[in-house]
Amino acid sequence: MTDPHALLAARFPADFRFGVATSAYQIEGSLDADGRGPSIWDTFASRANAIERGETAAIACDHYRRWRDDIELIASLGVDSYRFSIAWPRIQPTGRGPVNEAGLAFYDRLVDGLLAKGIRPFPTLYHWDLPQALEDEGGWATRDTAERYAEYAALVADRLGDRVGEWSLFNEPYIFTSRGYLLGRYAPGKRSLRGFLRSVHTVVRAHALGYRAIKAVQPHLKVGSVFAMAPVEPATTSDADIEAARYGDALFNRIFIDPLMQGAYPQAFLDGVPIRALDIQEGDMAAIHTPLDFIGVNCYYRLIISAGEQLPDDLPLLFFGIRADTRGTGGHADFTVTQDTVTSLLSAFGRSEGERTEMGWEIWPRALHDVLVSLNIQYPGLPLHVCESGCAFADKPGDDGIVHDESRIAYHRAHLSSVADAIGAGANVRSYHAWSLYDNFEWASGYRPRFGIVHVDYKSQRRTLKQSAEWYREMIRAAAATRTMVITRSPADRPAYR
Ligand code: FCB
Repeated sequence: MTDPHALLAARFPADFRFGVATSAYQIEGSLDADGRGPSIWDTFASRANAIERGETAAIACDHYRRWRDDIELIASLGVDSYRFSIAWPRIQPTGRGPVNEAGLAFYDRLVDGLLAKGIRPFPTLYHWDLPQALEDEGGWATRDTAERYAEYAALVADRLGDRVGEWSLFNEPYIFTSRGYLLGRYAPGKRSLRGFLRSVHTVVRAHALGYRAIKAVQPHLKVGSVFAMAPVEPATTSDADIEAARYGDALFNRIFIDPLMQGAYPQAFLDGVPIRALDIQEGDMAAIHTPLDFIGVNCYYRLIISAGEQLPDDLPLLFFGIRADTRGTGGHADFTVTQDTVTSLLSAFGRSEGERTEMGWEIWPRALHDVLVSLNIQYPGLPLHVCESGCAFADKPGDDGIVHDESRIAYHRAHLSSVADAIGAGANVRSYHAWSLYDNFEWASGYRPRFGIVHVDYKSQRRTLKQSAEWYREMIRAAAATRTMVITRSPADRPAYR
């Protein structure tokens, strides 16, 4: 086996799925079509300076209109899993009430189209596009939004659950609550400690209620959720940095997973916040305890954490104890100013050794292995899915029309290898999804970062497979060949070992 693709491919179990990922708001466009209601991202994007260059997702990749061709393209990659998200404002334009049939029909067709190609539809119910009408009532900082979410989840599962077996409840709850309600960098652009803490508890409750609501509709469905995760390292061996790292881990990796899987918020988190602000009511913690059927992991970096120098004592450690990386160019890891004196939540800081992507994120493939293995230590045998893995580089077609994105190939090769290592160490990893299928609307950064394995010319909407897409296809082909070889070999062909 000298083919390098085969060497990598052979390290995955026969039923491992290779896929690609997108999210509704980032690719669909057609924001007014078929009765869709406004979302918090429509409102946020219309604010001055909210999105780089004032860009909006009005057209994005025009996927809402080009879905048929897009399925053909996805199928041409040879993937057997497609992670996408369902836009709540298309299903319930005001966040409550009956299904908007025309909006649901879009996902209905998409699911059927994928299944016809032998591709698993792997939807996420919430990838950050809350109906604006619910935000007008307080959004995730309001307790009731959890009940609204559960109703929405049940409606969708009821209609698609006959064909979709695995459901992700949320995408990266820590990222959208912290950046949306505390840091003001993502929709709805609020900056409030109290609002953030309340949104955490509401979203934890929404997980539990949503999980149960889907099971009530169809008990056999598998229900999990997708978390942004990163291994944390203290910047030095000082007690203060070790303490800060412990804190960072509790915040970034565990404030959502722990209450669901274990029925309690991480103690380090509780120690640092005014607990009343979470608005935990009688019976909440018991109701929240709903061990998920699988965990989805999005891991883009490791976090190297150091304690801040000045700790004003009138606010909890959480908001002062950890320093920022000011060198990042945007995106999740550069949590910056929240209030006058507050510099950061937590971030990759200091001694970073790996090269950085266009987002300013350090390339550290081992991080993915470490997250998967530690999840498996904590929850042995739990199915894990890599729901996003990828990188942004400023690539464009060369004079030859080809996008030579060797750095992205190297990124995916190294990260797949890291997943294979985790499987070798016993983690039950079931799938890997390249983020992203297409270059797309990268939230507050607009269209500048290009994460796709497929290049999108936004003017013509022309899609061009980058070299990384060709590479991924070859790797998947090699994996399929390895499998066929094993499965079809007859006993007579087996070498006789005596
Ligand atoms: C993840 C988001 C995804 C995209 C990538 C780059 O955190 O889930 O929508 O923004 O980062």
